[in-house]
Amino acid sequence: MAVIRVHDKSFETYLSEETISQRVKSIGEAINADYAGKRPFFIAILNGSFMFASDLFKHLTIDAELCFIKLASYKGMRSSGKVVTSIGLDDDIFGKDIVIVEDIVDTGKTLTNFLPKLQHQQPKSLRIATLLHKSEATEYPLQLDYVGFDIPNKFVVGYGLDYEGLGRNLKEIYQLV
Ligand code: IMP
Repeated sequence: MAVIRVHDKSFETYLSEETISQRVKSIGEAINADYAGKRPFFIAILNGSFMFASDLFKHLTIDAELCFIKLASYKGMRSSGKVVTSIGLDDDIFGKDIVIVEDIVDTGKTLTNFLPKLQHQQPKSLRIATLLHKSEATEYPLQLDYVGFDIPNKFVVGYGLDYEGLGRNLKEIYQLV
């Protein structure tokens, strides 16, 4: 098992390139079957999902559209809760079959804050595809329609995910030692 250093921390191999690519392929096949005859619109959330979205998209045989967005959170003036706004969602999603593509769902807070913004635009359907899910860490329960791997509540890097900006380029996923 390979141990790598990212900044000041050690990480060990957790999911191999082959394991990830097989799972991404099977999610792509499931989406092809579920959306046969439809034209889903994928909304991939930057930065972490770029690699998953790219590999997943290559497995699609159906017509599909894709855009990347960035979520930014800020404190509302009059509320103590965080408000999540999206940057880059210029397309009209009214009446479309939307699939959100995430790298990892941890507490669920980010998507729980963001989903109402999308639902407000009245898509025909809304599903979530996430490569990783830390189900033990759930604080905001979400219906996750496509999950690559349910992983323990330990920090991971690689395959798009970073630790303080580094590690996104790794082909495998590594877990904090
Ligand atoms: P949530 O709002 O708690 O579900 O967190 C989601 C976001 O936290 C992800 O999109 C990641 O950016 C980040 N995140 C959570 N866990 C990890 C991890 O283990 N490695 C890298 N980023 C993580």
